Amino acid sequence: MKQLLTTVAFFILINVITGHAVHDDKNIGKQEPNTTKQLNDGNHIPIFGLGTFGWGDIPKIRQAINWAVESGYRHIDTAALYDNEAEVGQGISDVVRKGLVKREDLYVTTKLWNNKHARDQVVPALRESLAKLNLSYVDLYLIHTPLSSNEDRSPANIDYLETWQGMEEAKELGLAKSIGVSNFYTEQIDRIRAHSTIVPAVNQIEVHPSNTNETLVKDCFERNITVVAPFGFFVPRGKRPIKDDTTIKNIAQKYGKSVNQVLLRYSLDRDLIPIPKSTNENRIKENINVFDFHLTPEEVSIISSLNTNSSIFD
Ligand SMILES: *[C@@H]1O[C@H](CO)[C@@H](O)[C@H](O)[C@H]1NC(C)=O
Ligand SMILES: *[C@@H]1O[C@H](CO)[C@@H](O)[C@H](O)[C@H]1NC(C)=O
Ligand SMILES: *[C@@H]1O[C@H](CO)[C@@H](O)[C@H](O)[C@H]1NC(C)=O
Ligand SMILES: *[C@@H]1O[C@H](CO)[C@@H](O)[C@H](O)[C@H]1NC(C)=O
Ligand SMILES: *[C@@H]1O[C@H](CO)[C@@H](O)[C@H](O)[C@H]1NC(C)=O
Repeated sequence: MKQLLTTVAFFILINVITGHAVHDDKNIGKQEPNTTKQLNDGNHIPIFGLGTFGWGDIPKIRQAINWAVESGYRHIDTAALYDNEAEVGQGISDVVRKGLVKREDLYVTTKLWNNKHARDQVVPALRESLAKLNLSYVDLYLIHTPLSSNEDRSPANIDYLETWQGMEEAKELGLAKSIGVSNFYTEQIDRIRAHSTIVPAVNQIEVHPSNTNETLVKDCFERNITVVAPFGFFVPRGKRPIKDDTTIKNIAQKYGKSVNQVLLRYSLDRDLIPIPKSTNENRIKENINVFDFHLTPEEVSIISSLNTNSSIFD
């Protein structure tokens, strides 16, 4: 016992000397990439995932999924729009066949594109995604955007309340364990809450240090809606070069981490679920290596203060 206490005291001393934060959050030591958060429907979602968007990278996705699962990722995010569901499915089949994980150990999300927003198009669209993914269900199905379009991309003017009824059917059929939305504003979420049986479990939105989106995040949290953040460390090109910001560089130096790792930790420490995309083996490993430190509330505020409301779509 005495030896243990001495060891602990020594550890704290070393951390103070080297400037590393002493972990004061009682859960931090237990946090792992596969740690889950409970959604408002009772299901659990891993707090860290792999994004897969990039049309140029479609041929690399299968291998990327293999590297990711080997490195501890358990959550994979795709979409009909990404045109890579077949490759994602091959990667999943690989890791299951290799015995690295069982299907039920993985959390798979896909999304309904704008051209399938009519109520009776939703379940068939999901079945099509499932066939490509070679899965019998997804863990999470999202309406990719509130906008609807025709095949020729002209606006279809379908109310997303109608789309949401199709989403509810998908959940009732067990084809999606949870359902949610993406790129929805508070008013749109509140219309769904007022007129539907099921509240969206998730809103996947743009949040990063150049676009901290604090009001929308707060509104989602107040409604028990979990926020998933793609572009976890994305900095819009042509905007202020946040990656070179000395403040973030100093924080990175303090923890012996890269700027990208600090920015992913920033998402985690705001209770967001980052899903960084990469098909590069080293970066896949680097991105998930963020569970041995965390930022202080002050550091989170400092990074938030860099916000410029810059969207990657600007
Ligand atoms: C996470 O992984 C660890 C081992 O790597 C395992 O002991 C634990 O049960 C897993 N947790 C969840 C929620 O799957
Ligand atoms: C689809 O998944 C099954 C296991 O559920 C597997 O046996 C089969 O090889 C997979 N098909 C493809 C094309 O990967
Ligand atoms: C916040 O997120 C929404 C939804 O993804 C996005 O449209 C918007 O550009 C983001 N930023 C702000 C400042 O609203
Ligand atoms: C959110 O969840 C908490 C705990 O389950 C509950 O007390 C609260 O009423 C919920 N709030 C909303 C708006 O659903
Ligand atoms: C970003 O947008 C929010 C909400 O519209 C606004 O309150 C804030 O002042 C804006 N910040 C900057 C730096 O433009």
